[in-house]
Amino acid sequence: MSRKLIGPFTQILTMDHLPLKGPLQDEALQIISEGGIVVENGTIRKVGAFADLQKEADNAVLEEITEPLVCLPGFIDCHTHICYAGSRAGDYAMRVAGKSYLEIAKAGGGILESVRKTRAASQKELERRMSARCERLLSEGVTTCEVKSGYALNVEDELKMLRAIHVVNKKQAIDLVPTCLAAHMPPKDFVGSPSEYLQMIASQLLPQILSEGLAKRVDIFIEDSAFATEEARPYLMQAQEMGFALTLHVDQFTPGGSFLAVELAAASADHLEASTNREVQALANSDVIAVVLPGASLGLGYPFAPARKLLDHGAALAISTDWNPGSAPMGDLLMQAAVLGAAEKLTTAETLSGVTFRAAAALELTDRGVLTKGKIADFIGFPCEDYREILYQQGKLKPDLIWKAGETA
Ligand code: NIG
Ligand code: FE
Repeated sequence: MSRKLIGPFTQILTMDHLPLKGPLQDEALQIISEGGIVVENGTIRKVGAFADLQKEADNAVLEEITEPLVCLPGFIDCHTHICYAGSRAGDYAMRVAGKSYLEIAKAGGGILESVRKTRAASQKELERRMSARCERLLSEGVTTCEVKSGYALNVEDELKMLRAIHVVNKKQAIDLVPTCLAAHMPPKDFVGSPSEYLQMIASQLLPQILSEGLAKRVDIFIEDSAFATEEARPYLMQAQEMGFALTLHVDQFTPGGSFLAVELAAASADHLEASTNREVQALANSDVIAVVLPGASLGLGYPFAPARKLLDHGAALAISTDWNPGSAPMGDLLMQAAVLGAAEKLTTAETLSGVTFRAAAALELTDRGVLTKGKIADFIGFPCEDYREILYQQGKLKPDLIWKAGETA
């Protein structure tokens, strides 16, 4: 049994004792000054004043911190598409020159361009590319990351994507949470209607995913250019009956999809840039986590999702990068959360909650996101003396030290 005491940290933000839903004031943050963390076998045993822990835990090995460091739970990026091949720099150049995302998609670019490249890539190539992205995420303090399939849109290559995610998850220190997004768009080469495509996925792909243990979550893109609510409902209900948790891409350009997320008690409803007061209220009245994706707004030159309004109505707000080759190529969670916070007037507590315990809730993970006894020892240390420096530097201040399951990564 390996027990160690890590500290002293100038401040530890535990993110404990905060509600899952609604607005948060910074005064509610639990801050432990000159704090320490006792870790045993990858799990947090105790968080408290360093001096007290030093007296109590005298059989623990001391991992001494010798610089000012503010400690937070490891960040959780709860919505990404980092398993892909190719680049869409051409799309981006067209967009900044004035073409819309949907126009580019209709002309055969967009998601289908990434589908062509990802289908052509070997599983090994996908693993290599994803590993490099995982290393960058971890170095920026992301210790858990959701990853979707959805750039293959056929049984064989969707499985290839999910197997690549599975392999990388085993090899890399970061924890990956896989999601099947075979319902990203109806593929061009499928002979049949969008509903028939979804039926095929439900009968041929989802059972295989279950038997190989490749994912426990299913996602769909509800949009004019992808699937309609009426097409999505039977597919999602079938997935739910098979035991999958649901997460939905909704209200990105067209409102309305959130209602289906609420109706089906999905774990999360993601995007929400086009949500109106009706969608906001429906989400706030439900247990669905509202996931906003500032990286997609930045990548598309679009307004941000109404994060302030979601919180004020009482929703649980998580913030994620949506890192993908098309709409959100940047993939910097802290920078994007900080910029969203500045634009939407989020308190520091709200922004940091959105990338820690509220993001854990979007993934239905109860073992992380806060620094308390029994949670996985995932935490990060920023080189500063006051936690407010972190968002103030708008993503430019990166963590100096990262612990994944109690080990420095
Ligand atoms: O979340 N909106 C749908 N899917 C992705 C974009 C994927 C792409 O453009 O490649 C998103 O933004
Ligand atoms: Fe997405």
